[in-house]
Amino acid sequence: MSTAKKEYKKITVKSLVDMKKNGEKISMLTAYDYTMAKILDGAGIDVLLVGDSASNVMAGHETTLPITLDQMIYHASSVVRAIDRCLVVVDLPFGSYQSDPKEALRSAIRIMKESGGHSIKLEGGKEIKDSIKRILNAGIPVMGHLGLTPQSIYKFGTYTVRAKEEQEAEKLMADAIMLEKLGCFAVVLEKVPAKLAKKVADTISIPVIGIGAGNDVDGQVLVTHDMIGMTHEFHPRFLRRYLDLFKDMTGAFKSYISDVKTGDFPNEKEQY
Ligand code: KIV
Repeated sequence: MSTAKKEYKKITVKSLVDMKKNGEKISMLTAYDYTMAKILDGAGIDVLLVGDSASNVMAGHETTLPITLDQMIYHASSVVRAIDRCLVVVDLPFGSYQSDPKEALRSAIRIMKESGGHSIKLEGGKEIKDSIKRILNAGIPVMGHLGLTPQSIYKFGTYTVRAKEEQEAEKLMADAIMLEKLGCFAVVLEKVPAKLAKKVADTISIPVIGIGAGNDVDGQVLVTHDMIGMTHEFHPRFLRRYLDLFKDMTGAFKSYISDVKTGDFPNEKEQY
């Protein structure tokens, strides 16, 4: 597989499909705020996902279910203000698209109009086909999400690997093919066997972005706070930590507290 990188001034949904065709892997991470998005975009990330994982990471909820559409719009508009180059994908939160296609379209339109995001992501396959169709018909690019879909955690009961059994693997493949046929521009596959993820990526022509889905897919996504080690009690096998910010930040905060307590901060040069 070629590692030669074509220069993209701005990443669009079309660039991602080109990247797959050219064998260039797609890099994607989450962002929920201006400052982090600015760093990530400057570093050259291809896609920023304003994930509903903000519900866990930003708000401290146990699941992604409580985050609201208004909160997602707030996070997404902060991210959009920061970026120059990358594509911004915004999650439709739980409860904003499951009841009927009209509601799904209204929610997607609110995200596009009020946040300035470039596309939306939603979880599920056949069950939400009509909603996906309606959103796509309005000209809004859609990224699918199959495998472990955290908005359905109470149906699954656990965050364990999905689609290990043949029947579920077959459904996942059929859903991925359906998403491509409908016109989605990419699909996230979360926590599925690497062999199955490869089969999906080889079968459909739109990019497959994996998280816990092995290396034979078209790109990778991680939750930024996990990969930089700000969250430190989460140790899934698929997670590579690039920093241990929990440790480094705790050290810095302890030094500050101590400097304030001892009167070492501020010194003469740090005052007017
Ligand atoms: O919300 C999120 O962060 C996600 C990724 C885990 C893919 O959906």
